[in-house]
Amino acid sequence: MCGIVGYIGEREVIPVLIEGLRRLEYRGYDSAGVVFFIDSRLELIKKKGRIFELEEEIFKRLPKGAKAPGLGHTRWATHGEPSEANAHPHTDCTKTLALVHNGIIENYQQLKKELKEKGHEFSSSTDTEVIAHLVEEHLKNKDNIKDAFFSAVSELKGAYAVCLISEKEPDKIFVARNQSPVVIGVGEGENFIASDIPALLPFTRRVMFLNDGEFAIVSREKVEVFDSKGNKIEREITEISWDIASAEKGGYPHFMLKEICEQPDAIKHTLLGRINLDTMEIDFEKEGLLKELFERVKKIFVVACGTSYHAGMVAKYLIEKDVGIPVEVDLASEFRYRSPLIDENTLFIAVSQSGETADTLAGLRLAKNKGAKILSICNVLGSTIARESDVVLYTQAGPEISVASTKAFTTQVIVFILLSLYLRRLFFNEDVSQKIKTLLDAPTKLQSFIERVRPDINEIAKRWYTVKNALYLGRNILYPIALEGALKLKEISYIHAEGYAAGEMKHGPIALIEENVPSVIVAAKETGIIYEKTLSNAEEVKSRRGPVIAVVSEGAEEFKRLADELIEVPLTSYELLPIFYVVPLQLLAYEIAALRGCDIDKPRNLAKSVTVE
Ligand code: G6P
Repeated sequence: MCGIVGYIGEREVIPVLIEGLRRLEYRGYDSAGVVFFIDSRLELIKKKGRIFELEEEIFKRLPKGAKAPGLGHTRWATHGEPSEANAHPHTDCTKTLALVHNGIIENYQQLKKELKEKGHEFSSSTDTEVIAHLVEEHLKNKDNIKDAFFSAVSELKGAYAVCLISEKEPDKIFVARNQSPVVIGVGEGENFIASDIPALLPFTRRVMFLNDGEFAIVSREKVEVFDSKGNKIEREITEISWDIASAEKGGYPHFMLKEICEQPDAIKHTLLGRINLDTMEIDFEKEGLLKELFERVKKIFVVACGTSYHAGMVAKYLIEKDVGIPVEVDLASEFRYRSPLIDENTLFIAVSQSGETADTLAGLRLAKNKGAKILSICNVLGSTIARESDVVLYTQAGPEISVASTKAFTTQVIVFILLSLYLRRLFFNEDVSQKIKTLLDAPTKLQSFIERVRPDINEIAKRWYTVKNALYLGRNILYPIALEGALKLKEISYIHAEGYAAGEMKHGPIALIEENVPSVIVAAKETGIIYEKTLSNAEEVKSRRGPVIAVVSEGAEEFKRLADELIEVPLTSYELLPIFYVVPLQLLAYEIAALRGCDIDKPRNLAKSVTVE
């Protein structure tokens, strides 16, 4: 996830771009850059680091006579490490056009190869740079930027919001959108472009949205919008009433809720590019994960902290059940101080949103010293854990701002699902295409589930937000989900919550059950006999007058009879159960914490990234 801004008009261009970028910094912040005109020539300034470092660089260079149009970009690396060379804007060989991009170009490797064969020279390892060279290539037989830009964009596969300016036609900004956000701010004799509304609000509240597949040509006086075939279309102007702070959160009151609701998209991006839609095969090769890595693997260790540890627990169920390799899951702080039995036939998987967690990193180094191969699942490109791993599989969740992790967790689980299906195919030549289809359908299904369940959970929270203790019970692949649900509640609402394996309840927690201690019980019909066993545990709670909040499969009649509250989850595949069941638990914790007036995005005593022991 990156942030883009564009401006065309009479104002001083650099302050407009910087102001916009500052308001988009929440979208990513590993490098930034701007491009504008001086004496009819494009001038680029880029810097690794945060926006203020870019500002310092601009200040050092003191560009005189800077004029619009200009573009700015704040980057959250997906292809190519965070560096000045990889920072946007990117240019073509002639350096007469420059562009910024947000999204992932899936076919960039193929395009890059073809362009290199035609003599184009690349100066970054980004997917974005191919677009600049592609436009340059099309300009060889088109006499205007519009046609070259439209033709180039029609060759792209994947997600993009692109803005381009050029010395050839310096009075226009060219914009294209597909599956990545971009919005145009309409002014008087000036116009603005941004990834998101907060960047526009200091300048205008009148905006135009672009839909997937559409283009726009933005000049000082007008905004022309075109459909994917190049036909001009009319687009109405919308008036925005949000204040700036709520706009940054996309209108949501907290980042946590925004991130919960972003999960369908985050999952889609994590799947994108790893599934060949023609063959329905999973492809990790371009990320450096070769099948040879698994030839000697006799044992897998998954090591992580916090929420990432729960994703690791899910992996154990997925991999042991269907791949047949023993998986040990460990808390990094424990792993690093015991004597784990590791040799060169061990695969060590580190799971970390930030890629900087001190204990996980120490565990990784220990395993590496003992000869294990290191695979990591990280969200932050170029983070320490990622750099020290043999192979990295990135979750494409985008920046997670809320301390309590949500979309990082579900995308970690998605990577593990992909990995387990990949290994089933590799080891047993199993046809997993149906499973892959189900995965591809998951984002849409999850989206409508979230929309349906949010109001119900809000009502349930109103009835329970004053309790002091809660139990979370689940079995099998939903046991880690019970742990994660309890963790979410205690992190953000400060209610004491214990997650437990439902079958273990009778060995202790059952003593806690009383009228004002609710048990949140997660049970899915897809787990067969395990569902029946969890139902018996629910009966045990009920017979001791404990309230039951059941998070169960749609149509689970048995629970309707005994539960005090019922949250029905759509039927899905075994692999996807953790995704569909964790979301209502995230929402429940969120709604309860909101009713208790807690500081949800920054809970007391907690940190987003724990880089010390
Ligand atoms: C902290 C955060 C958690 C996170 C854990 C592990 O405790 O508050 O949300 O799950 O660290 O972080 P990592 O970045 O390694 O996933």
